[in-house]
Amino acid sequence: MAILDINIYGDEVLRKPCKPIEKITPELVTLAKDMLETMYDAPGCGLAAPQIGKNIRLVVIDTAIPDEEEPRPYIMFNPEWDVEPGSALATNEEGCLSLPDVWGNVTRPNKVWVSYIDVNGERQTIHNCEGLFCRCIQHECDHLDGKLFVDKISTADRAMNASKLRKLAKRK
Ligand code: NI
Repeated sequence: MAILDINIYGDEVLRKPCKPIEKITPELVTLAKDMLETMYDAPGCGLAAPQIGKNIRLVVIDTAIPDEEEPRPYIMFNPEWDVEPGSALATNEEGCLSLPDVWGNVTRPNKVWVSYIDVNGERQTIHNCEGLFCRCIQHECDHLDGKLFVDKISTADRAMNASKLRKLAKRK
């Protein structure tokens, strides 16, 4: 297991659309486990492959509360999601390991299903995802399309974070 470097806002790799994964190889499973370790170490509740420099459709998620709940790690290859019947919009604060110290409210559907390929190459579908898990799925899948949560925050939140964003983009 290894802790990987996390790419920061301004790095081009975060803006490129990611390629679907054709075959689940042992190397990809190792990479996914390293991503989980990197995420726990950060700490965070989700990490997408472009954040560690790979433009492939892979995300890891664990929204269990550290030290209070048993870990619930998910490794999702080629994840897709859509809203469930009865889903409404919910607004909540988000952050991102690629945007240290930046926070903003994002409005997203509050009940979705997610479908993905697991580490054994099997298709899994989880229905009625809600709360932080639901939000995290959407946030991480956005990364696979080169989108960041700051693209979706209000003008006021953007203004509040403007100087931090400028500094992050310029730090290299
Ligand atoms: Ni993120």
